[in-house]
Amino acid sequence: MFVKSFTTALVAASLSVQSAFAQNTASNLQLAGVKANFEQADLVPAFLPTFNPSALLNVSFGGDNVEPGTPLAATAVSSAPTLTVVPASNFTSAYPQASSMFTVAMVDADIVGTDESGNQTRHWLANNVALTTGEGGAYGLNYTTDPITNYAGPGPAEGSGPHRYVLLFISQPSTFTAPNYLSQPNTPLGTFNFQNYLTSTGLGPIVAANYITVENGVATVTISSTSAVQSSTLVAAAASTTGSASSSAASSMGSASASKASSASRAASSAGSAASSAVASASATGAKSGASTLLPASLAGLVGVGALAVGLVF
Ligand SMILES: *[C@@H]1O[C@H](CO)[C@@H](O)[C@H](O)[C@H]1NC(C)=O
Ligand SMILES: *[C@@H]1O[C@H](CO)[C@@H](O)[C@H](O)[C@H]1NC(C)=O
Ligand SMILES: *[C@@H]1O[C@H](CO)[C@@H](O)[C@H](O)[C@H]1NC(C)=O
Ligand SMILES: *[C@@H]1O[C@H](CO)[C@@H](O)[C@H](O)[C@H]1NC(C)=O
Repeated sequence: MFVKSFTTALVAASLSVQSAFAQNTASNLQLAGVKANFEQADLVPAFLPTFNPSALLNVSFGGDNVEPGTPLAATAVSSAPTLTVVPASNFTSAYPQASSMFTVAMVDADIVGTDESGNQTRHWLANNVALTTGEGGAYGLNYTTDPITNYAGPGPAEGSGPHRYVLLFISQPSTFTAPNYLSQPNTPLGTFNFQNYLTSTGLGPIVAANYITVENGVATVTISSTSAVQSSTLVAAAASTTGSASSSAASSMGSASASKASSASRAASSAGSAASSAVASASATGAKSGASTLLPASLAGLVGVGALAVGLVF
């Protein structure tokens, strides 16, 4: 009896040490925060019909991890980021390290309000990405084949508003075959429809995702408004998505829960305020409203990226 409870106490102690000093597993609250950010930015459902992450996609452009929606200068994101996958507790059984493959993509979802049923611009596409053992319980990535599309940094056209560049970590089934038009390494940037690509290849689900915003100059288009994430709803959302697992997760968080909760709500509210300040700066320009302004903006974005691609070739 004594031995058993002593062992239990040790396990409990090591769990709390792990959660206090190293962030190697994603909490339900963090997953709910990312999901809420994607919904708030209208990436769900406009760009992704649904998104139920099983991990955090940590994105580092040579420095700190970026929180979803972080506005960054194009010069800061001109080289490919380092991606790290921080698994939730249910990740490992669904995606065993030894046998799982993934696809990594970065896609320009353009400004809030864009009709995503059209084509998007592809900024990065790598198939056959495996997991490597990273620090603690987090995973690094092993790009086992050359990318279909090499990373090409954002180059939004001046005045086209804050573009949302979505980084995606997608489950790649063993039956996956790259479609003909995207089967060769170093395929230049081009238009493609992300949802069609997923549907036609059988890729999915999206296991983790993150996004940055990059803007060139002052927006001369009207950006649809978004509402800030209500951080007070995240705890309830985190609990309700996990059923019976949530109570044990919640109690094992113990005293760490307050700081996790506040960092998730900070992330959520900072993305909310970033989006609303983008809206404020857009409306301050006195731009015309209505969907008609969106089409020139997205075309301008494509022209900008096309120019960038030419720049890369030469
Ligand atoms: C991943 O990002 C989260 C949120 O920024 C951070 O709390 C955590 O420490 C990061 N983990 C790793 C392994 O980089
Ligand atoms: C893991 O749990 C999260 C949060 O409840 C859920 O959204 C996700 O679908 C689960 N993933 C798997 C592979 O079951
Ligand atoms: C990456 O994958 C290749 C091909 O499967 C393998 O030979 C190599 O050992 C892997 N590297 C790491 C660090 O896992
Ligand atoms: C969208 O992309 C697909 C695949 O590259 C292409 O066949 C199609 O013509 C594009 N549509 C438009 C409207 O550009």
